[in-house]
Amino acid sequence: MEADLLLCYVLGTTRLSLHLEPDRSLTEGQYRTLTAFVERRSVREPLAYILGECEFYGMSFHVDQRVLIPRPETETLVEKAVEVARALAVRQGHPPVIADVGTGSGCIAIALAVQCPESRVFAADVSMDALEVAGVNCRKHGVEARVEIVHGDLLQALPCAVDIMVANLPYIQRGEISHLAPEVSRFEPFLALDGGDSGLEHVSRLLAQSASWLRPRGTMLLEVGCGQAPGVMSLAAESLPGCHVSSCLDLGGIERVVVVEPLAPFCQVTENNDRASRPA
Ligand SMILES: C[S@@+](CC[C@H](N)C(=O)[O-])C[C@H]1O[C@@H](n2cnc3c(N)ncnc32)[C@H](O)[C@@H]1O
Repeated sequence: MEADLLLCYVLGTTRLSLHLEPDRSLTEGQYRTLTAFVERRSVREPLAYILGECEFYGMSFHVDQRVLIPRPETETLVEKAVEVARALAVRQGHPPVIADVGTGSGCIAIALAVQCPESRVFAADVSMDALEVAGVNCRKHGVEARVEIVHGDLLQALPCAVDIMVANLPYIQRGEISHLAPEVSRFEPFLALDGGDSGLEHVSRLLAQSASWLRPRGTMLLEVGCGQAPGVMSLAAESLPGCHVSSCLDLGGIERVVVVEPLAPFCQVTENNDRASRPA
């Protein structure tokens, strides 16, 4: 299939047409491009980086080595966040403000902005390189006016508290990274993979900060790795006492998304909270 996709790219055609007309010849230039692509793939560069694009939530995103390639399991996080955003919009009578922490290519933030067209979305990342790619994708999908790209560590750069916080932060244990497939360990950004020694360094820091940044009735949705959900649920219960914590399965039956909702409104924030009143 990957060979088909490389050929389709070179010929500027679809897989269907490729198979309907299998006897065509390549020009010299097409042959040279295809050979270069095959060489890159044979040293295990992921197809998405070679083609410069990847499909996520039915949309095409530009990707290169500055960002993680969006994964299908992350669609579970988006699906659940859309559900929460629509319910919250009805309950509070206005569209929610959403933050995507660790936005990378911007795939989650942009999918949410497209699915919830009234919402204001912040797309935050500590990597300036990743934010450049997120900017390209915002323009590609025409949401640059509603998705605000912010640079900083976790929630640091958010200008205000939010109703919904989504995050697919790095969650792989540092020691595991070199054992992953070369497509991942050699080509994807270390910063997008490295969850510290425990795998949960960023997630636990985010949970520790989040009460100050979630509006009353706000909800947090965290993507986690296989087997991490129980630990993250306990961390959430410790960090946000009184909240209701649950998890959702991805299509592979793995507990993939931890959902943290307040039973009672979080007490540190008011509806009109702004950055000036945030803790340092
Ligand atoms: C696993 S990738 C997810 C990218 C994208 N959200 C997705 O789902 O495809 C994690 C992202 O978190 C960013 N990141 C890592 N540490 C961070 C931090 N301390 N604060 C904000 N973003 C961080 C990385 O640069 C990377 O883009």
